[in-house]
Amino acid sequence: METERVAATWQERLGGADALARIVDRLYTLALDDPALEPVFARVDLDALQRHQARFLGFVLGSGDATIGAQMRRAHTGLEITPRQFTAMARHLTTALDSTGAPPALVREIAEQVERLRDDIVGW
Ligand code: HEM
Repeated sequence: METERVAATWQERLGGADALARIVDRLYTLALDDPALEPVFARVDLDALQRHQARFLGFVLGSGDATIGAQMRRAHTGLEITPRQFTAMARHLTTALDSTGAPPALVREIAEQVERLRDDIVGW
C-alpha cells in the first residue's frame, strides 16, 4: 500500500502515466540494442525483457519498501549480472528519463535509488 502510494507520487513527478509509458518504451529499446546486455537476455526471452522493463521503474520508485533488496536478489539469481551490465542498465534508465524531459534533479534522485540496489542485483 505504502509502496503504491510512493510509486503514484513518482509517476506524477515524472509527468503522469503517458510519460511513464514512454520512459519504459525507451528503456526497452535501449536495453535491447545494447550488446553488453545481450548475453543475459539471450538466456531468458524477449517476454522476460518486456516484463523486466515494465516492472523496473515500479520497483525502483517503490524502493522505500524494506523487502526490495530480497526481491531484487531473487529476481536476478542465476543471471550473474556483472557490475558493468548493471551500470549499463542504470545509464539506459537515465537516458530514457532525459529523453522524456524529466527534470535533471529528479533524474539524479532516481539514479541514486537504482544505485542502492546494485549489491542485490550484481553477481547472483
Ligand atoms: C539496473 C538495475 C536493475 C533493476 C532496478 C532491475 C529490476 C528488475 C525487476 C523489477 C525485475 C522483476 C522482478 C519480479 O518480477 O519480481 C527484474 C527481473 C529480471 N532482471 Fe532486472 N533489474 C536491473 C538490472 C538488470 C540487468 C543489468 C539485467 C540483465 C542484463 C537484468 C535482467 C533481468 C532478468 C532477465 C529478469 C527476469 C525477468 C523475467 O523472467 O521475468 N536486470 N529486474
